[in-house]
Amino acid sequence: MGLLTGKTALVTGAARGIGKAVAMKFASEGANIAFTDLVLNDDMAAGLEATRKEIEALGVTCRAYAGNAADFEETEKTVKQIHADFGSIDILVNNAGITKDGLMLRMSEAQWDAVLNVNLKSAFNFIHACSPIMLRQRSGSIINMASVVGVHGNAGQCNYAASKAGMIALAKSIAFGELGPKGVRANAVAPGFIETAMTAQLPEEIRKDWMKKIPLRRGGQTEDIANVCLFLASDMSSYVSGRVIQIDGGMNM
Ligand code: NAI
Repeated sequence: MGLLTGKTALVTGAARGIGKAVAMKFASEGANIAFTDLVLNDDMAAGLEATRKEIEALGVTCRAYAGNAADFEETEKTVKQIHADFGSIDILVNNAGITKDGLMLRMSEAQWDAVLNVNLKSAFNFIHACSPIMLRQRSGSIINMASVVGVHGNAGQCNYAASKAGMIALAKSIAFGELGPKGVRANAVAPGFIETAMTAQLPEEIRKDWMKKIPLRRGGQTEDIANVCLFLASDMSSYVSGRVIQIDGGMNM
């Protein structure tokens, strides 16, 4: 028996990176997996299917759903389909995210809107569609993938930091008075510097700067985030709700 045997987990933006690691970890603990990601071109579609096969090889049911997490109506349809395919949704991880960095004075409206829509509005979309299902079940665990910059702020990332702070407040608000009393938990995790395609784009100097600030002197691995998500998804954390857990090698104490 795994920690998540018999559960269905929905992870957004899970074709690669942290989302994929979370989906794989949940599957290795027995959860059936529904995951979403964009399909922009044939390469991405191949990525979606490759990830689906990798997860399925762990001995669980896994289905991939192509779609834009920032689109409200599309999300409603996708979640309905997932519920029909799996019969329940027990765990939701709002992971899809992007960066479009820039200083405030140079930031375009398009940069602001894109990041707020993909990071924050997508979490609203999925919670809005999944919470009636979880409320009926009178159980569920929602995990918002925030960031340390959503707690502490970061120059050059006002759009990204605001979206991540919003995801923390969103988790706390629903955990507190809305879903919590009906047995549905909601938490946020706040990763620091994690080695993925997102951070691989950063210039070497910025990378070195980050390393100096991290007491454990290494970038985090996707597995470091997946382990904490497993804790929050499972009954190991059955009395933990409305919290934000920083996973940053001790960077922000
Ligand atoms: P990544 O870029 O490797 O993966 C993000 C995934 O989200 C991709 O597969 C992408 O196609 C998908 N995605 C993007 N826009 C989407 C949309 N509109 N609809 C559906 N899917 C979409 O990034 P990474 O590093 O794995 O990040 C995952 C999450 O973790 C993001 O929310 C990110 O903000 C957060 N995070 C990452 C950190 C890092 O150091 N890598 C640090 C803190 C937070």
